[in-house]
Amino acid sequence: MESMDRMLLSSWYDVHSTVPSSYVQLPENRPGKVVSSLHEPIPVIDLGERHRPHLTKQILKASQEYGFFQVINHGVSHDLMDETLNIFKEFHGMPPKEKINECSKDPNGNFKIYTSGENYKKNATHYWKDSLIHPCPPSGENFQYWPEKPSNYREIVGKYSREMNRLTLEILEILCEGLGLEPRYFCGGLCENPSLAAHHYPPCPQPSLTLGLAKHKDPTIITILLQDKEVEGLQVLKDGTWIAVAPIPNAFVVNIGLLLQIISNGRLAGVEHRAVTNSSIARTSVVYFVYPSFESNIEPAQALLKGSNTPPLYKSITCREFRANFYQKGPKVEEDLQ
Ligand code: OGA
Ligand code: NI
Repeated sequence: MESMDRMLLSSWYDVHSTVPSSYVQLPENRPGKVVSSLHEPIPVIDLGERHRPHLTKQILKASQEYGFFQVINHGVSHDLMDETLNIFKEFHGMPPKEKINECSKDPNGNFKIYTSGENYKKNATHYWKDSLIHPCPPSGENFQYWPEKPSNYREIVGKYSREMNRLTLEILEILCEGLGLEPRYFCGGLCENPSLAAHHYPPCPQPSLTLGLAKHKDPTIITILLQDKEVEGLQVLKDGTWIAVAPIPNAFVVNIGLLLQIISNGRLAGVEHRAVTNSSIARTSVVYFVYPSFESNIEPAQALLKGSNTPPLYKSITCREFRANFYQKGPKVEEDLQ
């Protein structure tokens, strides 16, 4: 196999005027017809809303109907959002060997730079994307393994991770109110082990044949995504059609993950989404994946089973086992849980 520095898409994407055949998706997986974000917008929720029952209702409704919503007035500084996007753009713009070097300090291999998908060898067809991913626990553990380049990476991304942790707990508290769980249900183990990814989708000469990221559901509690201000790419599947998620400057896109689907006993569901490419401009997205500690037991919350006629729809599983299964089986993981 070729070495990672030469495999990274950012090292060669502009050499060809057509995409290599291993990047051409099967016809049924190609982008095809998409509903514009103007026709079917993903709900935008103002977290500054003072009327709490109204806020709770809106978030619950969006989570149930779309599995996705955008938030504004979330309290994260717009400067920090810009700085974070920029630092990751700079990161992906560094020489390939330097990027790899910045991700090789952790002896456990949890800091990764990769191209296409996390499991490159398993995918017969490749995706038009490079990614950086690493854990960013609120405990600050393993901060010594974080990239040090670009020079203020640790300062900015560290600050951003702390803000994401705060925002996560705020959103989950509202979801708890909506579901009927105690407000602090997710404080502690269930949000203890988040990861941060920065995806880089270079311009692609044939966007109609390729995908940046395959259709998937997130194996998380929730996911908070910051996307480029003007570049579309994220799409959500609703009632069998793909709808584009409009980039709204300074908003975050939030989606429900499979672990919250289990905990809520199916009242909230992870929804399929993907990313497409375009031929003119690179797109960057910064994704905060909310994961529990590996030891956490994931199962339908007792408080939701009591007084409900619905039996538990999912078996109990440790987060470690769930993540291993997800890595190996992808979307099939859901069937195994029932
Ligand atoms: C993800 C994801 C979408 C994007 O990383 O799970 O859905 O727009 N990313 O990069
Ligand atoms: Ni996702």
